[in-house]
Amino acid sequence: MKKQEIIEKHRKYLFSCVANYYEEPLVVEHAKGSCVYDIEGREYLDFFGGIVTISVGHCNEKVTGAIQQQTNKLQHLSTLYPNEPHVRLAEKLAEITPGRLQKSFFTNSGTEANETAVLVAQLHTKCQDVIALRHSYSGRSHLAMSLTANSAWRLNLTPVPGIHHIPNAYCYRCPFGLTYPSCNLKCAKDIEEAIQTATTGRIAAFLAEPIQGIGGIITPPREYFKEVVAIVRKYGGLFICDEVQTGWGRTGGKMFGIEHWGVEPDIMTFAKGMANGVPIGATIATPEVADSMKGMSISTFGGNPVTSAASLATIQVIEEENLVENARVMGQRLREGLEALKQKYPLIGDVRGMGLMQGLELVGENKRPDAGAVKRLFERTKANGLLIGRGGLMGNVIRIAPPLNVTRDHIDQALKTLDQSFAQIGL
Ligand SMILES: Cc1ncc(COP(=O)(O)O)c(C=O)c1O
Repeated sequence: MKKQEIIEKHRKYLFSCVANYYEEPLVVEHAKGSCVYDIEGREYLDFFGGIVTISVGHCNEKVTGAIQQQTNKLQHLSTLYPNEPHVRLAEKLAEITPGRLQKSFFTNSGTEANETAVLVAQLHTKCQDVIALRHSYSGRSHLAMSLTANSAWRLNLTPVPGIHHIPNAYCYRCPFGLTYPSCNLKCAKDIEEAIQTATTGRIAAFLAEPIQGIGGIITPPREYFKEVVAIVRKYGGLFICDEVQTGWGRTGGKMFGIEHWGVEPDIMTFAKGMANGVPIGATIATPEVADSMKGMSISTFGGNPVTSAASLATIQVIEEENLVENARVMGQRLREGLEALKQKYPLIGDVRGMGLMQGLELVGENKRPDAGAVKRLFERTKANGLLIGRGGLMGNVIRIAPPLNVTRDHIDQALKTLDQSFAQIGL
């Protein structure tokens, strides 16, 4: 098919909510490593990796090799019969996740991983109330949309009851008008009053991303999670850590985002980069929490042998090629370059994130969110051969997340293209 035909069929046959980036959508034909190629053969440096999903490069040979091998051997089974890739992946997760997390339940997406986490937390605590953060994104099921605190993504007319949203740790626009560290972490402490006023006084869980991705790379202060999780536990709640974006070395120097903050979750959820783009979701919990989910539950494709083999191969590449460290080193280089751009362009109000998960908040006078500038920058970066992402409640945050094995040359090339593109849009 030709480009226009694909674009027209997309408009005609898919739900209109399946929206594309760019004034003229980019029709990608193939991809390799850090690059994607459009249908006319033009190369783009991919600094968004799907949606923060390509961990070890597009079409990584070790991952595709594992997929091919497993496909030829055993492609589908269901969880009614034990199989080796499924249990090997579960064992691997138990080995590399922090603390006492040990038993996993596999699904197909981050949405389902969060659904499973909330269900098991409610069953374990025999409570319904869940606290989540404003600006968060948790997925697109009825429950996950109700956990999400961003009106753009909340399409359900009657949200699930018992979910309460508290202000997030958004230091650039502190919800309490305070400044870190003199704020004394008011945002973390606020959860206590939320529990005392909006719940029965006991909660099932607090669910949060270590760094809010779609929310606009909102990165909390170092002490935030220790403070907030201590209060959650005081009221009987479990801490569900959503590592869908921050997992697998993305934040640099640590395998999981929460490890930077020195807190052990009771439940963790994964998806996206865990299998380098093959559909997967996983929920891991401590044995006593996991075993609270009694009775029947099944996911037809959860723990699929091919998906599990893809995930095992992805994790193996991350470990063998030292990509957690590469994400730290390359993340530092990227961050320095972004800080330099901030000095040059007043449009960049804030640079934040960790490792290879970085964000630029674009603003006008008095920090006015400038979503229009993001749109203009998008068109320029595309024309200049660079793919980036966007996010933030006001749509004014650029999100940057190249593969974990990105090279120094590609970081420099992306920074140069961003510089050129900012110069072209002005301000
Ligand atoms: C933090 C977070 N949690 C959950 C999800 C939902 O994952 P999925 O789209 O695989 O259902 C996303 C998706 O972007 C996410 O960013």
